[in-house]
Amino acid sequence: MQDWFRKARLGIFIHYGIYAVGDVSESWSFHNGNISYEDYMKQCEGFTASKYDPKKWAALFKKAGADYVVMTSKHHDGVALFDTKYSDLNVLKKTPAGRDLVKEYVEAVREAGMKVGIYYSLIDWSDPRYRSVYPEGAKREDCLNDIYGSPAGGEEDPAKWEEFLKFNNNQLGELMTNYGTVDLLWFDGDWERSANQWHMKEFREYLHSLNPDVILNSRMQGYGDYETPEQGIPLYGPEGEWEFCTTINDSWGYRPSDNDYKTSGQIIRMFCDCITLGGRMLLDVGPKEDGTLDERQEKVLEDLGTWISDHDEAVHGTGKGLNYAQFLGGSTLSADKKTIYLFVYDTPREALCVKGVKTPVKKVTVLHTGEELRFSYTGALPWSGIPGTLWIWAEGMKEHPFATVLKVELEGEITYNLGHGEVVTCND
Ligand code: GLC
Repeated sequence: MQDWFRKARLGIFIHYGIYAVGDVSESWSFHNGNISYEDYMKQCEGFTASKYDPKKWAALFKKAGADYVVMTSKHHDGVALFDTKYSDLNVLKKTPAGRDLVKEYVEAVREAGMKVGIYYSLIDWSDPRYRSVYPEGAKREDCLNDIYGSPAGGEEDPAKWEEFLKFNNNQLGELMTNYGTVDLLWFDGDWERSANQWHMKEFREYLHSLNPDVILNSRMQGYGDYETPEQGIPLYGPEGEWEFCTTINDSWGYRPSDNDYKTSGQIIRMFCDCITLGGRMLLDVGPKEDGTLDERQEKVLEDLGTWISDHDEAVHGTGKGLNYAQFLGGSTLSADKKTIYLFVYDTPREALCVKGVKTPVKKVTVLHTGEELRFSYTGALPWSGIPGTLWIWAEGMKEHPFATVLKVELEGEITYNLGHGEVVTCND
């Protein structure tokens, strides 16, 4: 895994497309029959990108503390946001926007010093060639009622499917060679066909032949580099590297009727949950058709940025924290394993407690103010290796408006006694 991704803590996800014109969900709305395909596609006429200014986005994302950005280059509807010679279904040809939106995006993100990610849907519900094979294991009868799952003419046509795969490869070739280095590819929709049908092994090799360092997300039927849990934060981090993606309201793309926004505090808390478990967050925004962002989304990004910049040493360059039985809150651990950062979400009553840390504490401070806090122990039995409970007298400390971070400096590298006999040296 590339070092930059291991260190990255926050990515911004952008779902931008013709679906921002009406009030419908991205691609799924016609797939699920909430709108006809024709009406869905009519949104092309209203997609202007008239205020599209990715430099402005990039400045906001940077301020939010983002390390990388991932934008949709094509969703399941098949409408490309980039200049492609392999299909006329692109915003240059079919919408008043009339320009290559991916090009400007890539340049702006790179210039602002963030890594460049591109989302590409493997599914293309507009292309009849996509429907030229049944999902593996399915029979013709299984697919007859599913107009989008079944082959266009009813019978499988393996040659057409091969053509479709070639088409995907060609578009990815364009994305990976026309805009300089693409650091990460974010695939979606692998689930409708098997690894075998997608020729995933060869596909992965092909992408690496274009850029050996490109990072690939997990939605590649077992051939990706990292896991992508979505919307519900895992209680325990998945194995290996992972990224949790989430919307700020309930929609990936812009929907004017969706007012179910999470608060900044909730998003910050979710971000803390991710880094506590050793993962990272990919936070989604859904720009309006003209390219501007809803101010409620901007506000969340700004608040998250304030929180991250006030606590950067607890966020970047740290790893997975204590487990939740040791501290009833979030935490991270410095790279040298000599400092614990505790995330305190509620106003403390008396003292906060930490269990199972054997290395003695040297000093505790509130990170954003520098205020020093008193601490003490109960129940330590040094002769038997029982560390006892560390109490941090935090009542009355000056809290951070979103979540307060306590910096707990240890006398040496952290060691644990988790109470069932074994003494371990680190958590991961
Ligand atoms: C889901 C949906 C899709 C969205 C994606 C983001 O897989 O298919 O609409 O783009 O989640 O993670």
